[in-house]
Amino acid sequence: MTEETLQLALERDAKMTEHALLRYYPAEDADLKSLLNAERYSLFAGGKRIRPALTLEFCRMFGGRDEAALPFACAVEMIHTYSLIHDDLPCMDNDDLRRGKPTNHKVFGEAVALLAGDSLLTGAFEAAATNTAVTAEIAAVAVAYLASSAGRYGMVGGQIMDMEGECRRLSPEELLKLHSLKTGALIGAACVLGALAAGVPLQDPSMEKVVAYAEKIGLAFQIVDDILDRTGDEQTLGKRTGVDSEHEKTTFLSFYDVEEAQYYADRLTAEAIDAIRGFPDSETLAALAKWLAERKK
Ligand code: IPE
Ligand code: IPE
Ligand code: MG
Ligand code: MG
Ligand code: MG
Repeated sequence: MTEETLQLALERDAKMTEHALLRYYPAEDADLKSLLNAERYSLFAGGKRIRPALTLEFCRMFGGRDEAALPFACAVEMIHTYSLIHDDLPCMDNDDLRRGKPTNHKVFGEAVALLAGDSLLTGAFEAAATNTAVTAEIAAVAVAYLASSAGRYGMVGGQIMDMEGECRRLSPEELLKLHSLKTGALIGAACVLGALAAGVPLQDPSMEKVVAYAEKIGLAFQIVDDILDRTGDEQTLGKRTGVDSEHEKTTFLSFYDVEEAQYYADRLTAEAIDAIRGFPDSETLAALAKWLAERKK
């Protein structure tokens, strides 16, 4: 698959997702104006929409319908957006720029940003649970999987390890765990929920391949994020660079130089592609993994 074809597929997935996301904001309410504006400000600020693309593409690869995947894709993107709003708060990474715009708390204040994050988080579970294009059982399994990926043994767990890794140097093993929780878990949920939407049971042997792909691209994704914090262009990335070393965070670049870290990410990407090679129609997901490792944004 050419880079151009992949970008067209990603654009189409992003458009579908954004269209579907809008449906969760049906009514204006003057009393909730600041909350709704703050949520939509971050949700529609752009972003690569990688996670919803993974949900849609996994669903399609297993022969599922887009309508079944879209509510799950929206749920994952809502949780991701909430995690970014909270990640940028002064008590966390204290960042001023996100998705090329001032961060949520810079525009709406810390209290509204906190609540916008809360509302996106809870809204995500509502979106997933009310997915009427799948059976009630599939929706329940998806909600539980999403909750465990986002929560204490998932993204939130990773965020606490990340924060505490500012005060002391983590071991390489701890860093791998941090990355897989902070970033890998939600990317994993994006992939698994796509397969669930297509009717693949959690216990199906195919799911092991989905999880293997997700774990590898999830880790590679955060390694590249660490590299881009050192070498990336702020304009292209839409967020400030050099923040990790300013905060003395333990990242992949605490142990490897940029070339070694990139080599590690490339190797994981090749393994991810290998994991799904046996499935027909896996080209888009293979191309996506490759692009994620080479990305500049
Ligand atoms: C940034 O995620 C936070 C990490 C988990 C590294 P993305 O790089 O996917 O951010 P957006 O959605 O494109 O803004
Ligand atoms: C954040 O990781 C991952 C989240 C769970 C939000 P980072 O702090 O490295 O993400 P960026 O670099 O600010 O996007
Ligand atoms: Mg952070
Ligand atoms: Mg951050
Ligand atoms: Mg980062």
